[in-house]
Amino acid sequence: MTHSYVTDLGPGVGALPPRARLASDAPRLDLDGTWRFRLVPALDDVTMGFEATGFDASDWDEIPVPSTWQMIDITGAAPFGKPAYLNIRYPFPVDVPVLPEANPTGEYVRTFTLPDRFGTDAVLRFEGVESCFAVWLNGLRLGDAKGSRLPHEFDASDALVEGENTLAVRVHQYSSGSYLEDQDYWRVSGIFRSVSLVATPADIVRDVFVHASYSSGIGTLTVDVDPPTARLNVPELGITDADPSVPWSGPVEPWSNETPRLYDAYVSTPAETVALRIGFRTVGIVGSQILLNGVPVMFSGVNRHEWHPETGRTLSWETIHDELCLMKRHNINAIRTSHYAPDPRMLDLADELGFLVIDECDLETHGFQYTDWEGLPTDDPRWEPALLDRIARMVERDKNHPCIVGWSLGNESHTGSGLAAMAAWVKGRDTSRFLHYEGDRALAYTDVWSQMYTPIDEVERIGRGEEDPTAEPALDEHRRQAPYLLCEYVHAMGNGPGEVADYQRLFETYPRLQGGFVWEWLDHGIRQVRDGVDYYAYGGDFGEPDHDRNFIIDGLVFPDRTPSPGLVEYAAVVAPVRITVADRITVENLHRFVDTTDLVFVWSTTDGVRGTLDVPPVPAGESVTVAIPELPTSASERWLTLSARLATDTAWAAAGHEVASGQGQLQTAAPNTPGSPLPLEADGVGYRLGDARFDRRGRVVDVAGVTVGAPVFDVYRAPIDNELYRYGDPGGQAAEWHRHGLHRPIQTVISIEAGAHSLTVVTHEGPSGWNHLYELTWVWTATETGLHLDLTGTPQGTWPSPIPRLGITMSLPTSVTRMTWFGSGPGEAYVDSHTAVRVGQWSATLAELQTPYVRPQENGRRADVRWAELTGGLTVTFDEPIGVTLRPWTSQALEAAAHTVDLVPDDRVWLTMDVAQHALGTAACGPLPQQTNVLSARPFRMGVTFSRCPPG
Ligand code: GAL
Repeated sequence: MTHSYVTDLGPGVGALPPRARLASDAPRLDLDGTWRFRLVPALDDVTMGFEATGFDASDWDEIPVPSTWQMIDITGAAPFGKPAYLNIRYPFPVDVPVLPEANPTGEYVRTFTLPDRFGTDAVLRFEGVESCFAVWLNGLRLGDAKGSRLPHEFDASDALVEGENTLAVRVHQYSSGSYLEDQDYWRVSGIFRSVSLVATPADIVRDVFVHASYSSGIGTLTVDVDPPTARLNVPELGITDADPSVPWSGPVEPWSNETPRLYDAYVSTPAETVALRIGFRTVGIVGSQILLNGVPVMFSGVNRHEWHPETGRTLSWETIHDELCLMKRHNINAIRTSHYAPDPRMLDLADELGFLVIDECDLETHGFQYTDWEGLPTDDPRWEPALLDRIARMVERDKNHPCIVGWSLGNESHTGSGLAAMAAWVKGRDTSRFLHYEGDRALAYTDVWSQMYTPIDEVERIGRGEEDPTAEPALDEHRRQAPYLLCEYVHAMGNGPGEVADYQRLFETYPRLQGGFVWEWLDHGIRQVRDGVDYYAYGGDFGEPDHDRNFIIDGLVFPDRTPSPGLVEYAAVVAPVRITVADRITVENLHRFVDTTDLVFVWSTTDGVRGTLDVPPVPAGESVTVAIPELPTSASERWLTLSARLATDTAWAAAGHEVASGQGQLQTAAPNTPGSPLPLEADGVGYRLGDARFDRRGRVVDVAGVTVGAPVFDVYRAPIDNELYRYGDPGGQAAEWHRHGLHRPIQTVISIEAGAHSLTVVTHEGPSGWNHLYELTWVWTATETGLHLDLTGTPQGTWPSPIPRLGITMSLPTSVTRMTWFGSGPGEAYVDSHTAVRVGQWSATLAELQTPYVRPQENGRRADVRWAELTGGLTVTFDEPIGVTLRPWTSQALEAAAHTVDLVPDDRVWLTMDVAQHALGTAACGPLPQQTNVLSARPFRMGVTFSRCPPG
């Protein structure tokens, strides 16, 4: 038996030419379900004759189809091997066309009974098989194929019989196709999307290509159908039994991401009717801008990989549906299908819910970077048939989706003749969308200039048209006039991304900058259980000999698709309505197509007054101002928040869902009148100030009846991923922090001065071996209100820059189980990620204050806190608003943990109060934080009053 098709550079032999995925009324047999399965370690071990009718596979294992075999029982015995995570490197030597001898191969067998009246003219359809497979029906070999995330159909007519049929599929983990599928993700294998048998009676509708455009209220429609004798019906438009090739035009409602209007249409032959959902829209590039229906659009997008923590590459319709609704609820309007054609049901939903989609071909050859691009498949004519097959399979499958506004040739495959050939093929087939490929840096064969992770200042230069020239004047001219997209930006790994709002400001300033796609939507964790507790695995957790650690955990949602603070921030930054509260309230409608009549405006103040605001309908792109509501006078600090909410239910959210909000301060707090100072008393073991006790070295041990661990200076935080990686490689800021000992300061008491009403302690705090330290002056006083600390700090010596944090940490008893605070909330906030938070009174349990980043790291900081009640402990009130973090473990424990399950609550609760923290940034894969967000050692002052917490 020959397995040469596995290494052959071609796309495969025997599959039918690609065509649109059609919702047909022809009989269809779903072949998903339980199949017999045998996994063999290498090609030499395959089962001879497994494809024959009558082959007895009854003692084989069972496997669900669709699935990937490495995810079967992954929390348990994992009988078929485990997933492996790699970013850029191939999991085998780069040695085209050679593949590893250990090439696990899955043999799948099932029987099925042909239903009555099905007929024996049919195709077998595979929606996705990774990475290469051969198919037999009743012992007859129908063909073989590569192109994992692409559909393949085989003519089954010659093999299909009435009654029982035997279907056998052999799937190889590695093939020549693996050289074209080097995406940054879990490497898994199997029949991971559905399989079906579709009847193809004579007169079938073989293919349909809808051309539906829109301009100024008028839609134009022609439908290319094979066969051309088919008839077209669009009941809503009065199109009845029409010749689909004759252009129709008439008044229609346009499709857009904001108004996803679809018309049901039917294409029929005497034998078959195919249902279509037509959206009338026109995509074009005019004057350096991508226009939809004549209007420039903004891409507030995400890169969407397909992954599920339990089922891997196989997703249910519910998962996809819920995920897209979640995106809509977070103001995401665009999806790049990184880096392959998605489960086709996702595109149906994107049409219905309204997304701008860049559909990307299943292509990445990034690992050739390590050969200096030598032997690059995308620049080698031997690979061209495979490349052309891939792009055709995607475009043909997906061409009728109005949501797809651009095609993308693939990702990170350098540049070359193969890509240019793919581009030429697309241009010859479909000119109704723009063509994208980030690797075409000179824009030689694509339409949109696309970059990834470009620093903010460079994006601004591009916005202004002041970018560096390309090599050739003609190309330079073309690129300078092209629209600009960031196909990847603000890498959402761990805590972050920061600085999203800074990019958005540029997008809204320079017309040519039309937004971008966050890298990426989802953390691709894999659910694991230790001692009954769930956690998520990442690279290396399955013993892979080569892996890229947690670089796969870089999404806006956690693996179970709960939103991370990064998503909440993104939703606020890209909100389609911007509300500013100052002397008057301004409501700016950033939608491109719809006015604000679908929204209601609800206001509330931080002191509990609320109402609804009459905001006249604001047309797309315009703004109105309205007066601040009349309010009773108040003596306290007061903020007003205006929230724009859905007036009625939509397909993706219930009425009342908040689309945007804005806040402004109406009144500042009245200054505190200081009480009269209480005397300092020395007792045998230390000092007393009011109800506070200090030891001999001036360390507070007890305040307001609570035993505390005295505050110490704290410049450290558990490094976030942006401090552990640079462009995907380990390294980064955290190593410098460790080298400089910022995680291990030593406190030395320099002096203690006992005054009549104050205790003043001077300390030096810095690491061993270095001369950088802070001189801190801790001045303690007390009134009837509580114990007050006035802390000043002055840096000495040479500090590294940046530093993580500037503040103090103290410990409290575990009776502290909840924090109620007045400040920013409800979520965490950092210097470069605080668009989503609002000033108010918030409350959360200790557990709720922790953000469960898959790899534990700094998290949970509540910003601008004026006071915080720590239930069962103290109330802390700040002279100036401050950052507060409360956690059941130390930063050091947080840093040491590899997974959430490693974190075990201490016998103390740790309270950190900081005047500043360093930016979050996005440096794990992107630029370093901007200078304005960098925290360097500097003099600081903070004031805290500790008082008794009200019971409760
Ligand atoms: C990009 C790449 C993505 C992903 C990202 C880092 O270069 O296109 O697939 O690897 O970096 O997470």
